[in-house]
Amino acid sequence: MRTLIRNGRVVTAVDDYKADVLIEGEKVSVIGAKLDVEADRVIEAGGKLVIPGGIDPHTHMELPFGGTESSDDFRTGTIAAAHGGTTSIIDFAVQYKGQALVEGVDNWHRKAEGKCVIDYGFHLITTEFEDGQTEELYTLMDEGVTSFKLFMAYPGVFLADDATIFRAMSAAGARGGLICMHAENGIVINEIIKRALAEGRTAPKYHALTRPTIAEAEGVHRAIALSEMAESPVYIVHLSCADALNQVREARDRGLPAFAETCPQYLFLSIEDYGEGFEGAKYVMTPPLREKWNQEELWKGLKTDDLQVISTDHCPFCMKEQKELGRGDFSKIPNGAPGVEHRMSLIYDGGVAQGRISLNRFVELTSTAAAKMFGLFPRKGTIAVGSDADIVVFDPDGEQTISAATHHMNVDYSAYEGRKVKGVVETVLSRGSVVVENGEFKGKAGAGQFLKRGTCVSM
Ligand code: URP
Ligand code: ZN
Ligand code: ZN
Repeated sequence: MRTLIRNGRVVTAVDDYKADVLIEGEKVSVIGAKLDVEADRVIEAGGKLVIPGGIDPHTHMELPFGGTESSDDFRTGTIAAAHGGTTSIIDFAVQYKGQALVEGVDNWHRKAEGKCVIDYGFHLITTEFEDGQTEELYTLMDEGVTSFKLFMAYPGVFLADDATIFRAMSAAGARGGLICMHAENGIVINEIIKRALAEGRTAPKYHALTRPTIAEAEGVHRAIALSEMAESPVYIVHLSCADALNQVREARDRGLPAFAETCPQYLFLSIEDYGEGFEGAKYVMTPPLREKWNQEELWKGLKTDDLQVISTDHCPFCMKEQKELGRGDFSKIPNGAPGVEHRMSLIYDGGVAQGRISLNRFVELTSTAAAKMFGLFPRKGTIAVGSDADIVVFDPDGEQTISAATHHMNVDYSAYEGRKVKGVVETVLSRGSVVVENGEFKGKAGAGQFLKRGTCVSM
């Protein structure tokens, strides 16, 4: 099968030119001006951007959490991702306490098998790690799971103590593996939550008020200090505020391999969205939404490369029956929010259209940097001869209004309901096959392949 994308403006993290792109089978085979070739399918891209498919390295499909399970499975979640121009996700498998590391990964393989419409990889949430498990960790790395998430939050569920974090960092780092840190002082936060509940403060907004920015900044500081002692890199996930960003910036200025991602919710939403009533449960995620002034600081960090990646931390729970578990007690609201579908358009609109970042930086933040960070580059994250034909034809002038009535995520609300954004995903190819055409789904469950990832090439 030969597909020709004609007359588009090809934009990668470093290039920007008018060209035709020929795809043969699953790969890009020729890029050139006015290609005179036969093709089975021609996609007309005049006036459109032709960009690498998005990579979202932080999703939680079918995650058992907070007494329920995130509402997108690997089929609905990847369909929604594809509609939004994301062609690869990296989801978080979980090693629960008492399980072998490999058990967690095997369980996630079973969940995802036959369901994904785009390619997918796994990190492993590691809740227990002893030195004796180092070989097991390396076996997983050889099988393409090269990054591990450890938590300083959620005591009794995912929290790992500093010794465990240090051991995991030392072992992973010695082989080029990457530790992803949920950096928040969950032990102290739990004490603050107990006080709030004892004082009758039960509404969703108290989720935010009991998780101060300093609790995140302390976690980031500690994570970086542990990684420095372990002589290994660290990647801070879902960084939400200026206080935490300052810790990463200070470490990077000292030349340490400290990296971080932020998410659209921290760039576009704020603590004001919680309001007073239970509707605020829509925004109960961890870390919580912050005061609005943090948003411009995060945009600055994205511009100066103190933040390298934009992921979504997609972890949807319906208001009905799921978020409702926390009516009358905010600490029982399942933590997480939907987002996998609108990352590309939100960042194009808020970043490029509003003059905060360049088009090249947009591609880098939504695709290339994640590919390099998580061992997928240059197979993914760029448009180049030999790379996978994961390509988005993007209309920079199109407009859309985000709404739960039209989105594809399996969740009964949108965190961005009614928001008008410039930039519309038109056509999406995953390894050469059209999965979305003019907004219509054309893909197939099971067509997505497991991504056996290499190690980070960002250092
Ligand atoms: O609230 C969130 N972020 N839920 C998902 C789990 C996590 O901490 O990433
Ligand atoms: Zn987390
Ligand atoms: Zn997460």
